Amino acid sequence: MKKQNLTIVGAGSTYTIGMMMSLVAEKEVFPLKSITFYDTDAKRQEPVAKATEVLLRDKYPELEEFCYTTDKKEAYQGADFVFVQIRTGGLKMRELDEKIPLSNGVVGQETCGPGGFAYGMRSIKDMIEIINDVRKYAPDAWVLNYTNPAAIVAEALKREFPEDKKILNICDMPAAIMVSYAKILGCEIFDLVPEYFGLNHFGWFTKISDKQGNDLTDKIKNSILNQGFIPKDAEILNDPSWIQTFKQVEVMLRDFPQYLPNTYLQYYLYPSKMVEKEDIENTRARQVINGREKRVQKLAKSLISANSTEGHELEADIHGRYMVRVAASIAYNNKETYIVIVPNNGIISNLPKDAMVEVPAQLTNEGPKAFSVGEIPRFQKGLIEGQLAYEQLTVDAYFENSYQLALEALTLNRTIVDAPLARKILDDLIEANKDYFPVLK
Ligand code: G6P
Ligand code: MN
Repeated sequence: MKKQNLTIVGAGSTYTIGMMMSLVAEKEVFPLKSITFYDTDAKRQEPVAKATEVLLRDKYPELEEFCYTTDKKEAYQGADFVFVQIRTGGLKMRELDEKIPLSNGVVGQETCGPGGFAYGMRSIKDMIEIINDVRKYAPDAWVLNYTNPAAIVAEALKREFPEDKKILNICDMPAAIMVSYAKILGCEIFDLVPEYFGLNHFGWFTKISDKQGNDLTDKIKNSILNQGFIPKDAEILNDPSWIQTFKQVEVMLRDFPQYLPNTYLQYYLYPSKMVEKEDIENTRARQVINGREKRVQKLAKSLISANSTEGHELEADIHGRYMVRVAASIAYNNKETYIVIVPNNGIISNLPKDAMVEVPAQLTNEGPKAFSVGEIPRFQKGLIEGQLAYEQLTVDAYFENSYQLALEALTLNRTIVDAPLARKILDDLIEANKDYFPVLK
């Protein structure tokens, strides 16, 4: 097996140490020659990188090279794979994405509703720059992107780089949900074969089978309806916010029993309830700043000062393992099935060809080969078409510097609906994002 050179973009992220543990856990599946960290924020990257040095020395002695840099050429040259997870504006701007909508009485969420709109308008420019830089120094590298809002980022990258077939946008949410299914069934997530359709953070599992083809969907549904649903992945297991989110899956399944919903549908199907449960002074960004961010900073510090991994709780999580497995299937032509974001082109036959859809695909060394979904029912189709128009209008607004298109996008969003309210929220978001948004005329 050829060993891979991997670059991590946005390496200062709170997810990076978990990603390193996933690379360790999956080293037989995806063996590495080198890991390079890249971040524009040297100060944020350094402690994560220093801790990673310790971690890799103990747990990945076979690795030939590890380095970290803020230099693009050094970051990308020689890379086979580039994993991207950046957050333009940081958690500080995420907090505003959540608070501004809430102060207007609508869902404030990182990727859903107007929060996702603002995050999208910020992310696109940096993502385009990253792809241009990668292609300058590593024309053949595969780019796997987790950057949110993945639906909007995927739409924008498709338009900016229509010929680039080596960019793949993915999301760990379907996999994190499948970890809980696997727990219910008493098996491993990678033993399960999903059938799924939708947009990113806006989809449904239609069927879950095992590798022998046995249909396990009803078992999962019955378990959720009778015993409830809880997160099982290490990263979110004990998190009250995620516990609440998974609980809402039971409600969604009761109201709409046909398919197993993605957790993110709660924001679109129960917007009033989502607003009610929020505390504007302690939105998710604040919880992450006080929770995961502090925990990771403490862990990094401790690894550095101990200069050893001994006595430290280091666990691989599905966020990392999913990305690594996807990469391995592409690198070694494993032809395994994962849920990824791809141009529709008839996969869902009654949705537009140019939609970026989230569906299972066989991952080969030529990229994803998605399975046909066929026609989807009217209810899901209606929901998806509204959301898709919102996402595409957002990207239109970005490329055309258009206030009008942005207003249309937000008016279409199910979490807003009311046009004057959409205008008010848009104006508030523009004001808060002066340093980031393109000028909307
Ligand atoms: C899931 C989603 C990601 C999202 C994350 C937020 O993993 O798939 O797209 O960024 O949740 O989690 P957090 O704990 O930061 O709220
Ligand atoms: Mn996601």
